[in-house]
Amino acid sequence: MSRNKLERFHANSLAYNVMEPGKPRFDQMKGQWHAHFGNQNPIVLELACGRGEYSLALAAKHPHLNIVGVDIKGARIWKGSQAAIQQGLANVAFLRTKIQNIEDFFAPGEVAEIWLIHPDPRPKEVDIRRRLTNPRFLNHYRRLGGPGVQVRLKTDSAGLFAYTMEVLAGQAISDLQYTEDLYQSPLLADHLDVHGQPIRTKYEEMFMAKGCRIHYVKFRLQTPPGLIGAEAAD
Ligand SMILES: C[S@@+](CC[C@H](N)C(=O)[O-])C[C@H]1O[C@@H](n2cnc3c(N)ncnc32)[C@H](O)[C@@H]1O
Repeated sequence: MSRNKLERFHANSLAYNVMEPGKPRFDQMKGQWHAHFGNQNPIVLELACGRGEYSLALAAKHPHLNIVGVDIKGARIWKGSQAAIQQGLANVAFLRTKIQNIEDFFAPGEVAEIWLIHPDPRPKEVDIRRRLTNPRFLNHYRRLGGPGVQVRLKTDSAGLFAYTMEVLAGQAISDLQYTEDLYQSPLLADHLDVHGQPIRTKYEEMFMAKGCRIHYVKFRLQTPPGLIGAEAAD
């Protein structure tokens, strides 16, 4: 492992805003996020947050929200964690875990909203269950957020967007809004930072340089009868 990475992992081990394996609080966060933030403000998740650009921008724009960025890669989380410390953003934290295990870290109903920003599109058929808008994940989100939980997906991938729209056609949802060209849509308003500038992650900069259009869909998940409780089928 490079020295750079080791230094980042060491910084994460000391950072109050990083929850990761090996820390005493790591296994005890379920139902405890409001206590961690020291307020009762809504908890918003950014799943697959990478370097945390969105988590930071949302935290700065919405001081009355608590943002938790989730990613498996510690060296990426380090970037967001250190930026939050430097910017004095106390309403953002980072959780290092696989998103598949997200229900181990949040109690039912603890989450108000979920953002998915350029998640891996997983184009191979064999990876369909790993797409973050697969019904299996939507059911995780339902349980984390309860009825009406808001979910937002921003993606450069026309394939992931089309797949998501297909999945949503068979789901109990409300308040569906979408665009296949975010930069030509009034929905861009959802993605402006505190200065009114579009929030762009490193991946988005790369995709836009290649001329990709950015797709965006938001919706509220409703809970069909029979899907209450962690044991419900995925
Ligand atoms: C394409 S990158 C996008 C990162 C960031 N949202 C952006 O736009 O720059 C996808 C991110 O998802 C993370 N990731 C992929 N699968 C994951 C999983 N199952 N659990 C946690 N993180 C995951 C990767 O580590 C990576 O940082």
